[in-house]
Amino acid sequence: MTIAFIGAGNMAGSLIRGLQASGYLPGEIVAADPAQSQLDVLSTLGIATTTDNARAVAEADIIVLAVKPQITGDVLQSLPALRADQLVISIVAGIDTRSLGDWLPDQQPIVRCMPNTPALLGAGITGLYANASVSDAQCAQAEAILNGVGSSVWVSDESQLDAVTAVSGSGPAYYFLLMESMIESAQALGLDAQASRQLVVETARGAALMACEPDTDPATLRRNVTSPGGTTEAALNVMQAENLSHIVDRALLAAKQRAETLATEFGSKA
Ligand SMILES: NC(=O)c1ccc[n+]([C@@H]2O[C@H](COP(=O)([O-])OP(=O)(O)OC[C@H]3O[C@@H](n4cnc5c(N)ncnc54)[C@H](OP(=O)(O)O)[C@@H]3O)[C@@H](O)[C@H]2O)c1
Repeated sequence: MTIAFIGAGNMAGSLIRGLQASGYLPGEIVAADPAQSQLDVLSTLGIATTTDNARAVAEADIIVLAVKPQITGDVLQSLPALRADQLVISIVAGIDTRSLGDWLPDQQPIVRCMPNTPALLGAGITGLYANASVSDAQCAQAEAILNGVGSSVWVSDESQLDAVTAVSGSGPAYYFLLMESMIESAQALGLDAQASRQLVVETARGAALMACEPDTDPATLRRNVTSPGGTTEAALNVMQAENLSHIVDRALLAAKQRAETLATEFGSKA
């Protein structure tokens, strides 16, 4: 099976490394990009590279679209007509399968993905949606490719990818903001900058690892570390009094609504 990457930037590089780590051979992968400097980075992995998108897709079974949203229409329209058995996997943010389909032959199998930035470290989570032309085997192939940089969840309704964008696509930034805030507060409590950063970041890592354990959930973990009348309860009482859950609700709704708006800006009917 041959996989062609159109766009050889950050995400393509991570996905290719993930594929190789999960056993794909360099000879099964080709990357295309007009920037030779980008290709030079990836050719160190032993894969084939080309500045010609049409050449990359000619023999491919799977085409991974990893370019910026603004140029997606032009890139797809400049490709030779794809075969009906070629699976297109798009990681392009904000462009739906209807728009992608408008730039591709009718009935093209398309899997649309919403990965997130930790994928660059192999710790991403991706939302996946398949159009009606995608076979079960192609779903499994798409999942295997994205799982090379973390894990994935399928959604059955494409509009749910806007919710995925609001939760996990933008999600790392919410945790970064909380970390920033805690680092500032730690310094206000008298700790130095380096100790504050280390305490906050390592606490985030430890809490995430605990939450990733099977057979547990964040609410149980929180209750387990909150003794009545203790320090944790004192802090959580303040967060609840300030209605943290309402702030989070409003923030995620704003992100989802923005994802819906961006889809209309970059789509084929924009
Ligand atoms: N990075 C993330 O965490 C993340 C998360 C979710 C979704 N995404 C989506 O993934 C896609 C790729 O993101 P990225 O971070 O990998 O971007 P990136 O590093 O900018 O990669 C895009 C690559 O496409 C190349 N390119 C430009 N025109 C091209 C053409 N006509 N044909 C083929 N390649 C072309 C670019 O070259 P030049 O640099 O020379 O223009 C660049 O190397 C984007 O649509 C983004 O929305 C990214």
